[in-house]
Order: sequence, then structure tokens, then C-alpha cells
Amino acid sequence: MLNIVPKPCSVTLSPGILRLGGRDFKGLVTRADDKTIFPQGYRLTISPDGVTAASSDDDGFFNALKTLEQIKFSSGSFLPSVTVEDHPRFPFRGFMIDCSRHFLPVDELKVMIDAASKFKFNFFHWHLTNDQGWRAEIPELPDLCKKASVRGSSHFGSVCDPSPHGGFYTVDEMKDIVKYCRERRIEVIPEIDMPGHAASLIAAFPELSCDGRPIGLKTTGGIFNDILCAGNDKTYKIVFQIIDSLCGVFDGEYFHIGGDEAPKKRWKSCPKCQSLKSALGLNDEEELHGAFANTVAEFLRQKGKKVISWNDSLNGENLDDSITVQFWMDKAKKSVKRANSGGKLIVSDFYHYYMDYPYGMTPLKKVYGYNPVLKGLDHVGETSVVGVEAPVWTEHIRSLDKMSYMCFPRFLAVAERGWTQESLCDYDDFKARSKKLLPMLDYRIRYAPEQDWDILTCSRVKETTSFFINAINEDNIKNFLDSR
Ligand code: ACM
Ligand code: ZN
Repeated sequence: MLNIVPKPCSVTLSPGILRLGGRDFKGLVTRADDKTIFPQGYRLTISPDGVTAASSDDDGFFNALKTLEQIKFSSGSFLPSVTVEDHPRFPFRGFMIDCSRHFLPVDELKVMIDAASKFKFNFFHWHLTNDQGWRAEIPELPDLCKKASVRGSSHFGSVCDPSPHGGFYTVDEMKDIVKYCRERRIEVIPEIDMPGHAASLIAAFPELSCDGRPIGLKTTGGIFNDILCAGNDKTYKIVFQIIDSLCGVFDGEYFHIGGDEAPKKRWKSCPKCQSLKSALGLNDEEELHGAFANTVAEFLRQKGKKVISWNDSLNGENLDDSITVQFWMDKAKKSVKRANSGGKLIVSDFYHYYMDYPYGMTPLKKVYGYNPVLKGLDHVGETSVVGVEAPVWTEHIRSLDKMSYMCFPRFLAVAERGWTQESLCDYDDFKARSKKLLPMLDYRIRYAPEQDWDILTCSRVKETTSFFINAINEDNIKNFLDSR
């Protein structure tokens, strides 16, 4: 058995070895063009004479090198003669990092990106804004970083930190991350969360909320009523300025417009929102949310972007067909219906792919056991699933050390389920391969030790209960009740 994650379509060993001696293995690779190979796929051939990597595109060649790197890690200077034929089940395999709740410095972000790239992830969804901090420099709107990138204190669950927390990524730093990712065949998808989870935008521009009241950055987690006013022209003007600026930084095809957890309490009593709702002949505020998302999406489409929104935007059932929906929770039926009529879907199921919950709640076996096609998808629906994504929310993750513990090896399970054909997936085999490959990661990645991957059921209950007790405080409960 060769230790390769994600598991390839086929591995055929033959007699003979390639002796590397002290040579850099990358220099030994001959690249071949073969248009019969699927996109992102490759055929890697190692023989005593050298290495050939055939592919029909640059992604495929890169993926062949990633496989070669893993073979080299397990084999040292004596590579086995082998032919690996491979291509992914889904074109989209992503991971998301929330840099708003806790800021992750550029060098630490790179450590996470590099580690993910070793397992053929090809999208980094960068959650740049939320209620607790604005993280993207927008030179045309300097108030955003000046007023909304540092919060005075933090109170997430039982953890109180009286000191300021913040930071933002300059345009040059964001471009540097885009370049770093491009070198690893990873596209960066920026997310500006709207109309909800937008308290940082409102902290800089109070006139963008329905009541125009000045607010500060949120210092706790939760869902807040302070959302962008959908009936105010100024909201669109500022949002379009932000998008214009970020489109000069992020050159990929996707842009994420958030759309999750937006309570409509303020919209219901806002004259501007109500007047837009009537003018558009909409039935309710959920349809107004759909119309808001459609307006922003149309602006992005004119810039050549594909738009992604969390599945909450489906509540009103008027979301434009062209928007890719990211499924995470609740609206499974609506997501399935949409996919069955051809709407594109990314699967980020909360109970299986959320990396911020403890191993006790989401053990490795549970992550791996999830087949990322929702129940009820028909043939069209299945082909509408573009792929998988593992989100890392950071209310309770304050360091790279903790983040890497939460993500590794669970990232490997998501990577394999996103790449490997269902019929080839086998948990025990996956575990054995993963165990051998985790030591190849950078020393700053503190992956979870094997005894934490699948703890006993009684310990799972204890760990999960203790996580939730520590994750909630009085402010969260008050905000939650207030947003109902
Ligand atoms: C989400 O977890 N709020 C998308
Ligand atoms: Zn309003």
C-alpha cells in the first residue's frame, strides 16, 4: 500500500525502484500533455529511469506533484516503480477560515494554506468580515479598518479577554496570499458577509443600518439584529465600492456574499425596507433578502464573477438561479430542490464538516463517513454538487496551534471525500494512510493525536457538553432571544 491522501483512482506497482540519491525529485519529473485525462487529473509514472507526470491542465500537473511528494515522504530516496491514475470526484474542494472573530496573521494563514494544499484542496474561502471585526483594507473607505478592525475586549463563551483584539490585511498582504495560493493551485474566495453579520460595516458606517444608530464592534459571538438596511441606496453604494476594491485584489472566479443568519426584525419596521418591499411587489422580508442578494450578485456578475451565498438566502425562494448555494444547516429540502433543478451546490454540512466543534461532537470517523450528496438529490441534483468545503469558525479558536489541532486530521477526511470516488472510500484504510502522512506537515501544525480522533461514546458526551457549556454566556442567550 502506498500512503496517498486523498486515495487515488488506481495505483499499479511494478518491479524496480528509482534511486534518488541526493537529487531533488522535482527536477526529475518530465511533464506530458494528455488531453484524454480529466480536468485536475493526472497519470504519474515512476520507473527506474525517472518520473513522468501527464495531465490535460496545470492543476493536474500540480496534483501529480503533490502525490509524488507524498510517495517520496513515505519512501525516502528509493521510490517504487508505480503508475498512479487519478482524477477528482468533485471539482471544488475548499476550506474556510474565519479571520474576523480571531485574526490570524499572514504567516500563520500560509501555514494552514500550505498544509491544506498537500491534500489537494483547491479553494480557500477567506471569511474576512463579521460582527466582531473588519479585516480587509479598502483604501477607498479607510474608516472600515480605522474604526472597525479592533474591538476593545472579547467575551466568547466563558472566556473573557479584557484586552483589545484586532488587525487587518493590507491590500499588499491580501495580494500576497492570492499569489501564495496561486502557486499552490488554490483560488481564494473572499467573503463579505451581508446583510447580516455586518456589524463591523455598520460600526464604520452607522447610516447603513435601518435605524442609523451608532454601534460598536460586537465582543461576543451570536446572531445580531444590526443588519444592513436593504432599502437604503447608500448600502448598495458602499457595498459596490467594497466589491470594486476587492475585485482588484482577488482575481479568481468566485466571490462570496455571505447571507447567513440575518434576523429581519429591523427590516419589518423600517420605512425604507418596507417601501422597497412594496415597490418590488415582494411578499415578505425573506424575499427582500433574496432581492438584496440578487442585486449584489448582479453587480458581481457584471464583473465576471460567480457568486456564492450561504443557504439561508433560500428562505424567500427568489434567489437568482445563477448563485451557487453553500449548504450548511437547515434548508436541506430547499437546497435539494434547487440542486435538482440545476442550481449549483457546495456542501458544508454543520454536523460533519464544521471544524470548530470538538472531536467529541464530530469525530474523524463521522467526518469521513459522510457522503457529501444530500438525501433526495436526483441525477441532476448530484451533478449540481460542485464539491465540499470545511469551515473553521474562530469564536473559540484563538491560535494557529488550536486551529491546526481542530483541522488535522479532519481536513484530510474532507479532502478524501471530496476527491475519491465513493466506492474506494474505506475508513480504516484512510486512517492508516493519514497516520503516516501527518508528520510531513510543518512543525507549526499541531495535529490531533490518534487517541483524540474517535473517542469513546461516554467521553464524547462529556466533551461535547463541556464545549457547549463553555461556548455560551448570558450575552449570547440574551442576543439569541432578542433576534427571535
Ligand atoms: C454559518 O455557519 N453561519 C454559515
Ligand atoms: Zn431598512
